[in-house]
Amino acid sequence: MAQDTRHSGAQKGHAMKDILQELSERRGAARLGGGQKRLDSQLAKGKLSARERIELLLDEESFEEYDMFVTHRCTDFGMENQKPAGDGVVTGWGTINGRMVYVYSQDFTVLGGSVSATHAKKICKIMDMAMQNGAPVIGMNDSGGARIQEGVDSLGGYGEIFQRNIMASGVVPQISMIMGPCAGGAVYSPAMTDFIFMVKDTSYMFVTGPDVVKTVTNEQVTAEELGGASTHTKKSSVADAAFENDVEAIAEVRRLIDFLPLSNRQKPPVRPFFDDVARVETSLDTLVPDNPNQPYDMKELITKIADEGDFYEIQADFAGNILTGFIRLEGQTVGVVANQPLVLAGVLDIDSSRKAARFVRFCDAFEIPILSLVDVPGFLPGTTQEYRGVIKHGAKLLFAYGEATVPKVTLITRKAYGGAYVVMASKHLQADVNYAWPTAEIAVMGAKGATEIIHRADMADADKIAQHEADYNERFANPFVAAERGFVDEVIQPRSTRKRISRAFAALRSKKQTMPWKKHNNIPL
Ligand code: HXC
Repeated sequence: MAQDTRHSGAQKGHAMKDILQELSERRGAARLGGGQKRLDSQLAKGKLSARERIELLLDEESFEEYDMFVTHRCTDFGMENQKPAGDGVVTGWGTINGRMVYVYSQDFTVLGGSVSATHAKKICKIMDMAMQNGAPVIGMNDSGGARIQEGVDSLGGYGEIFQRNIMASGVVPQISMIMGPCAGGAVYSPAMTDFIFMVKDTSYMFVTGPDVVKTVTNEQVTAEELGGASTHTKKSSVADAAFENDVEAIAEVRRLIDFLPLSNRQKPPVRPFFDDVARVETSLDTLVPDNPNQPYDMKELITKIADEGDFYEIQADFAGNILTGFIRLEGQTVGVVANQPLVLAGVLDIDSSRKAARFVRFCDAFEIPILSLVDVPGFLPGTTQEYRGVIKHGAKLLFAYGEATVPKVTLITRKAYGGAYVVMASKHLQADVNYAWPTAEIAVMGAKGATEIIHRADMADADKIAQHEADYNERFANPFVAAERGFVDEVIQPRSTRKRISRAFAALRSKKQTMPWKKHNNIPL
C-alpha cells in the first residue's frame, strides 16, 4: 500500500513536470505571436512588438496577462488551420508608477492584428474590468482592422468595443496610442477615447484608404498625407500629439497618466513637490508689453506658475491661439486653458473653441480643477468662420465652462473683450475666483472699434477721434470697473501670481456644486 502511494506520487511528480513544461511551451509559443520572421519585419519598420510596448509602458514585472490562450472560432477560408494563441492582441493590467492601468496591445504579426470576435472580446473584458475597478484603459493600436475572414462577427466585435468606449467615457480615462495602421470603422474606437497619440511615419488613421479615395473622388493622396501623424495633429485635430517613435510615445503616456485620476471616483494624484508655493516671479511684472498690440508668450506665464515649471501640453500643434494642458500646483493636477497672444493675437475661433471645450469637459469629468489665463481680443470675424459655424463652435466652449463644476480660477492678464470675456471662465459662468493683473482691459471691444461705432459722427475729425479713444481707454483699459462690480475678485500683482492662484485652488479643494437634474445636457455639436 505504502509502495503504491510512493509510486503514484512519483508518477504525479513526473506528470506535473510535464504539465509545467507544456505550460511553459504554450506560453513561449504565444509570446512569439506571428513568428520570428514577422516579428523581425515589425522591428525593421522601426516598430516595437506588442509585448515590448507593454513592457515599456508598465512598471517592471507588473504586467498580469489575461486570455493568453484565447483563439478564434472561425472555420471559413481555412482559418481552422491557423489558430494563434492570443488571437492578435495582448491584454491585461499592470501599474504605471505604482498606479493601476488596464492595457491592450494589438499584435500586427498575428493576422495583421486584425480584430476577430474573440480578439474584440478580450479587449471588452479588460474594459469591463477597468470600469468596475476604476482604472484607465490604454489601447495600443496596430491593426489591419476588421478580420476579413470573419465578416459580420468581426464588425459585431468592433461594435461591442465602441459601446464600451461610450460607457467608459467620463468614468475612467481612455487613452489610444496609434502605432501602426488604423483604418476603416476601427478609427472610431480611438475617436471616442479621451486622448489619441500617434507615432510619426509608422502610424495612420483614416476612414477610407488612399485607394478608395482615388476611386471615389479621383484625389491622389498618400497614406501619410491622408492620415499620418502630421495630418491629424496639425490639420484635423483628431490626434493630441505625435511622437518620433514608439519609445518616446510610451514614455509620454506614462508622464500623462501621472497627472490623471484613475477614475471619476478618485481625485487626481498628489505628487511630492519641491517648489516654494510663495515663489515670487518679478519677471512677470514686465511680461505684458507697454504696447497693447505687442504679443508675448503666455507659455512663459504658465511655466512660471507651475510646480517645477512642468507643463504637459495637449494639442500643441493645433489651434496655437489657445493653449491647453496640465500643470501641478502644490503637487495637485490643474488643467490650464490659456489664450496665446503670440498666435492670431490669442483670438477665439472655431478651432480654438473646439480644442479648449473638449479639454474643459475632460477636466470636469475627472474632477481636475481648471485655471484659465485670459488675453483675448474677441472672436475672429469673417465669412469663413461664420459659414463654418463659429456660433455653434464658440458656444461649445461657453457651454463647457458654464457646466463645469470643478474649481475654476481665472486670471485676466490683458485683454478680455466682448463675448470672449464672458466665455473665458468669467464670474458670470460661475468661476470661483477671478483675478486680474493691473494691466487687464475688460470691455465690449478695443478703443478703436468702439470709437468708430459710438462716435461715427466725428470720424472726419482726427483730433476728436483721438480724444474719444483716449477717453475710452481711460474708462475701460483697466480692471477696476469690473472689480467695482465684483466681476473680478481681486487685482493682483503679477509677481505673486503663483502664490495667489495656488491659495485660491487650496481654498476650493472641498468645493461641491450641484446642477439641476437632467438626463444629460444638449451641448451644441
Ligand atoms: C485579416 C489581415 C487583415 C485583415 C491584414 N491582414 N489585414 N488579415 N483581416 N483585415 C494580414 C495579411 O493577410 C497578412 O497576413 C498580415 O496581416 C500582414 O498584412 P500585410 O498586408 O502583409 O502588411 P502591410 O503590407 O504592412 O499592410 C498592412 C495593411 C494591409 C495596410 C493594414 O494589410 C491592409 O490593407 N489590410 C486590409 C485593411 C482593411 O481593409 N481592413 C478592413 C478595414 S474596414 P500574412 O499571413 O501574409 O502575414 C474595418 C471595418 C471596421 O476595419 C468597422 C467597425 C465598425
